[in-house]
Amino acid sequence: MTPATINWRDDTPHSETFDDYYFSSENGIEETNYVFLQRNELQQRWSCWQDNPGNVFTIAETGFGTGLNFLCAWQLWHQQNFNHSRLHFVSVDKYPLQRSDLTRAYKKWPILEPFCQELLNKYPPLVPGFHTIELAGGKIRLTLIFSDATKAYQEVQGRIDAWFLDGFTPSRNPDMWSPTLFHEIARLSYPGTTFSTFTAAGIVRKGLTGVGFNVNKLPGLGPKREICYGNFTKKTKHLSHLMHNQKPWFSGPVCYKTPGTAAIIGGGLAGASIARNLANRGWLVQVIEKHQKTAQEGSGNPTGITFTKLSQYNNPQNRFYQLAYLFSTPLLLELLNNSKFVRGKDWDLNGVIRLAYCEKERLEQIALVKSGLWPQDIAVPLSAKETTALIGFPCETPALLLKQGGWLRPADVVNSLLDHPNITLVCNTQLKELVQINTQVSSSTHHSKQPYWQLTLQKADTDTQLTSDIVILANSFGASTLKQTAHLPLRSVRGQVSYIPASEKSQKLKYALNYEGYTAPARDGSHCVGATFHPKAKHLTLQQEDHVTNLNNITAGLKSFADAINAEKMKNNPGLKGRVGFRCQTPDYLPMLGPVPCVDAFVEDYAPLRKGMLRDAMPLGKYHQGLYVSLAHGSRGITSAPYCAEILANIIMGDVIATDKQVLEALHPARFLIRDIKRRKI
Ligand SMILES: Cc1cc2nc3c(=O)[nH]c(=O)nc-3n(C[C@H](O)[C@H](O)[C@H](O)COP(=O)(O)OP(=O)(O)OC[C@H]3O[C@@H](n4cnc5c(N)ncnc54)[C@H](O)[C@@H]3O)c2cc1C
Ligand SMILES: C[S@@+](CC[C@H](N)C(=O)[O-])C[C@H]1O[C@@H](n2cnc3c(N)ncnc32)[C@H](O)[C@@H]1O
Repeated sequence: MTPATINWRDDTPHSETFDDYYFSSENGIEETNYVFLQRNELQQRWSCWQDNPGNVFTIAETGFGTGLNFLCAWQLWHQQNFNHSRLHFVSVDKYPLQRSDLTRAYKKWPILEPFCQELLNKYPPLVPGFHTIELAGGKIRLTLIFSDATKAYQEVQGRIDAWFLDGFTPSRNPDMWSPTLFHEIARLSYPGTTFSTFTAAGIVRKGLTGVGFNVNKLPGLGPKREICYGNFTKKTKHLSHLMHNQKPWFSGPVCYKTPGTAAIIGGGLAGASIARNLANRGWLVQVIEKHQKTAQEGSGNPTGITFTKLSQYNNPQNRFYQLAYLFSTPLLLELLNNSKFVRGKDWDLNGVIRLAYCEKERLEQIALVKSGLWPQDIAVPLSAKETTALIGFPCETPALLLKQGGWLRPADVVNSLLDHPNITLVCNTQLKELVQINTQVSSSTHHSKQPYWQLTLQKADTDTQLTSDIVILANSFGASTLKQTAHLPLRSVRGQVSYIPASEKSQKLKYALNYEGYTAPARDGSHCVGATFHPKAKHLTLQQEDHVTNLNNITAGLKSFADAINAEKMKNNPGLKGRVGFRCQTPDYLPMLGPVPCVDAFVEDYAPLRKGMLRDAMPLGKYHQGLYVSLAHGSRGITSAPYCAEILANIIMGDVIATDKQVLEALHPARFLIRDIKRRKI
């Protein structure tokens, strides 16, 4: 990423690259009000806004810059005192400002101080992609996309209520006013969407008129040039083919604008994450768990590390893991800070030390730093000496400090997430069968004219029925036993962690260590050292050879720490404790997230793909309406589950989705089905 190059002129930021000001040097706030808030009639629209749960007003902007327009929109929203509805602000910047420049710019606006402060605290690292940030206790959501505007909006899915077009002057920055960008703006608009901009240049008016906007001119503020504003009238015929930018098989499911009832199957990290996310949006949620307690299977390890895949390459898979980590770690921090669990004793998010435990890893760390994808504010390269000083154990290799990571007990996260008035936890209850009920009759408990679901649940030896508007399967391998999801390719990878008794010396470890395996600081007198990988193994009993593998890995990672826990001696200790778990994975190692396809309809509708036919004339995908999955979180459920929950909630409610189209498709539950049809396997 190239950060903005700012010249400060009388405390007003001026772009060296575009030779233009970010905002008016005399009256920035006044101009934002006049050009953007007033021309989009935000005050009028919000004064008659229905303050219902699930109601979201979405503003999209080109050119985030200092975020002044966002801050003013947030302030105006705040003044409405809404209790339930939310403002979603989507913006983009190819050359984002550094935090230090933002801090300097914000000195100009003491009136916006609390908003500026919160934004500064949560401003994302300068890493490409979609960053979704929760502000004002969840009432404001900012999706900040660090990318070129046209590329970014080509990846956006959703519907925009108002546009703030704020690139630099068209003559100096034509990229922000291109026909392709105008097409994307039209694709995301509907009759009623408004726009405004600080310029009335011919190419802007012509471009917007051409894609279906009604364009009006008005004098600028004071002596300034004319501005323009207007609203979207209709999708013009010649553009209609551009309006669906998704592959037809990934488009189709209807969304739920109003929260209803949700049954979530599985009381692990995935189930608890989506339960909390939907509960926050006003859904009434029941979480069905077959065990007596939550977090008894994949999420049952005593300690896990909050970490992610590190890569120097920016592809959808790596982007997913990086953005999941950046999204989830602040949420986990807030959640645990507000819980009964004690920081430093039960958990910490003070950073993970990724040791350069072999030459290959050392070279990869160098390449990672060079790639710029993991900048210093999130990944700090440490020399061997610095690592030694930080962790207090002699270290002979360099390392990376992953600043937002740490260690925690997954069950603490699950139980804290489920602690919400809209969530009911039903344990000792197993989902046996799901049947969709099609109805044309509206009832008080279900969305009118939408099908709903009847669940057969088994508790002890008794079957009971539950109905729900939507069902989310977050039940890991359990999904394979249900008719609708039996086709999903879920694989199991056995893993064993070892509980190594802490010594006086080893208790001094305060950072989670990551190498070929991982070691957490001591909790309740032992270190959780993990974990082995055995894709084919199914046995539940602890294996001594797996303990030996875990101990050998820590010895190769950090010998001084291995000595502190007497690793050599422990290898011969037949009484070592531990735990066996099974990771649920897909063949491409990405989770399975989204609506569930109807297999027979897919096979029939997309049969022409076998002959390599073009997709244009194909029908939209057929899905089991109201049935979704969040499965296969593999080895990184702690960070992937909360991010997947956010994306899934966006999909369910038709909000602008917190990730790009490529990532969405890479996670889609229909991806393997389509691949198999294309390969003529089915
Ligand atoms: C050994 C090991 C070490 C790991 N270490 C880490 C780590 O350090 N960091 C990290 O991020 N990740 C780690 N992971 C991965 C992480 O634990 C998983 O990705 C995560 O727990 C998956 O959560 P889940 O909710 O999808 O699945 P689960 O936690 O397995 O939850 C699924 C739930 O569904 C319930 N269920 C199933 N079928 C039904 C049904 N029909 N009716 C009702 N309930 C049902 C199950 O009882 C279960 O509680 C590790 C995994 C293992 C195995
Ligand atoms: C006029 S400034 C935006 C001012 C901003 N709204 C504010 O409140 O400070 C224009 C912004 O567009 C960004 N930009 C320029 N070209 C871009 C492009 N092709 N894609 C995305 N952003 C771009 C610049 O980095 C700059 O931050």
